[in-house]
Amino acid sequence: MGPSTTYAVLVRLPVSACLGGALLLGCLAESPDPVSLEDDSAVALLVSVEADDYPQWEPPPTSADLPHRREASGAHGPWVEVYLHPALLGAFLGEDALDAWPEGVAAVCESYESEDAPDPFLIQVMRKTDAGWSWAQLDANREPLTPERPDDCIGCHGGGEDFVFSVFLPNG
Ligand code: HEC
Repeated sequence: MGPSTTYAVLVRLPVSACLGGALLLGCLAESPDPVSLEDDSAVALLVSVEADDYPQWEPPPTSADLPHRREASGAHGPWVEVYLHPALLGAFLGEDALDAWPEGVAAVCESYESEDAPDPFLIQVMRKTDAGWSWAQLDANREPLTPERPDDCIGCHGGGEDFVFSVFLPNG
């Protein structure tokens, strides 16, 4: 069993106080309030991965040299670009066996209508904190989508390994 999942827990914190990796985690540790995504928490989660420069993160590794934008399963639209936080990729590629991903890791999934669409029509973010995974889905205008979405996220991602689909927990 993975740790319990909470919704975005960044709410009620000034975003500027939470930018940056270790600082972000320090902030979250003092903010146990579970919240829905109707408020600024989804935006704050996106801002947190933008502060970590997620467009520079790597896609899921494959044996083939595929382009970053790949045809998707359909859950996130026809085409996706998945970005894996360096510590998530590092844990996947590391030699240690793991039964859960380390705190602080994150992933972003950008949804595109086509192979060459210039901008994503949806952005999904997940980030693991000491309270479990936080989830966010925003449209092209950075508007958070409905608060029911986290149950959808959790329900489907529960089929992944500690909620992640794109990489597997290493067996050591
Ligand atoms: C019906 C299943 C399903 C639902 C619902 C779903 N996802 Fe996903 N998600 C996937 C699959 C499958 C992938 C792998 C990429 C692909 O093939 O689309 C993925 C990939 C991702 C990734 C990249 C990391 C990873 O796990 O591979 C993120 C981030 C993500 N989803 C966030 C979300 C968020 C946030 C929600 C809720 C708003 C959500 N997902 C809802 C199936 C789902």
